[in-house]
Amino acid sequence: MSDWLNQVFCEDALSGLARIPDGAVDLILTDPPYNLGKDYGNASDQQTVEEYLRWTEQWIDAALPKLKPNGSLYIFLTWRFSPEIFVMLKQRMTMMNEIIWDRRVPSMGGSVRSYSSVHDTVGFFVGRKDYYFDLDAVRIPYDAETKKARSRSIFIGAKWLEVGYNPKDVWSVSRLHREHPERANHPTQKPLEIIERMVKASCPPGGVVLDLFMGSGTTALAARRCGRQFVGFELNPEYCAIINERLAALETLEALAVAAAPDAPAEPKAKAKPKAKAAVAPKAKSAAPKKKTAAKKTAAKTTATKKAAAPKPAAPKRSRAVKKAPPEEVTI
Ligand SMILES: C[S@@+](CC[C@H](N)C(=O)[O-])C[C@H]1O[C@@H](n2cnc3c(N)ncnc32)[C@H](O)[C@@H]1O
Repeated sequence: MSDWLNQVFCEDALSGLARIPDGAVDLILTDPPYNLGKDYGNASDQQTVEEYLRWTEQWIDAALPKLKPNGSLYIFLTWRFSPEIFVMLKQRMTMMNEIIWDRRVPSMGGSVRSYSSVHDTVGFFVGRKDYYFDLDAVRIPYDAETKKARSRSIFIGAKWLEVGYNPKDVWSVSRLHREHPERANHPTQKPLEIIERMVKASCPPGGVVLDLFMGSGTTALAARRCGRQFVGFELNPEYCAIINERLAALETLEALAVAAAPDAPAEPKAKAKPKAKAAVAPKAKSAAPKKKTAAKKTAAKTTATKKAAAPKPAAPKRSRAVKKAPPEEVTI
């Protein structure tokens, strides 16, 4: 039975994990609350240090058995708790990289008593030596200028020049500011460009990606766009609605693309059941108690979301224009 596949369950990940059979997941790609005091409509980001670390260890121990033996895990953190959590994971897995996501926050405002923090820390862990990793899927093409500069005869036919270079461990990708076409109404939404790179490198086509803390559903969307399957959890019903909207917009675009090119060979796609299931009715207070509800704002953004959800591998647009500097330690 695989009725848990391609579903986002609107429930606590810790209890929801029981739905997934052990050894069924190729990649755990997750972005838990960083415990920096954010309001996700629940208290998950506002725990004491002891509670937070104990809870983190609990979900890690519940999630790891779901991984295939050659599976991998990526976890988004900040410098605040990455040392403790990396140690926890190193006791259970092998750490391959610490990836720095440089959010490209422009130099405006920020801390006056320390350096402004503009990066997230991502841990990349594997279970054993023959872990799945497809470097060719994520190579970065050399630009025309570089290729031209390498035109001497010793470079002719050089495979590396054609296939591109492998991504380094500092990823400089703009955060999604409020006007970004990809932006949904979630305070710590991650850019598809980053998540898709992880999915392509560390989950085989058709494989399964698990995200315990879905937020706006970026992992689910990335998995679908890359022809992978997904499963995930999100506690806040308003964010679950956003996930459904984003997945539905993607489905619409895919259907339109097929209708526009009926003779084109169909790409193997994961079968989607994009409704987030309200498995439990969490007593979350409103996620965005501002002027509009999350769902309303999302509806207003549907056009933009559709653009961003287009199933082509093009990198999302970047923009350097922001109106206001975010407070320090704010991911978005
Ligand atoms: C950092 S955000 C994830 C953002 C996401 N990566 C995105 O791109 O939108 C963490 C999310 O975890 C959710 N969350 C917190 N505790 C949870 C739990 N126990 N089970 C499921 N979701 C939870 C929060 O509501 C929040 O939306």
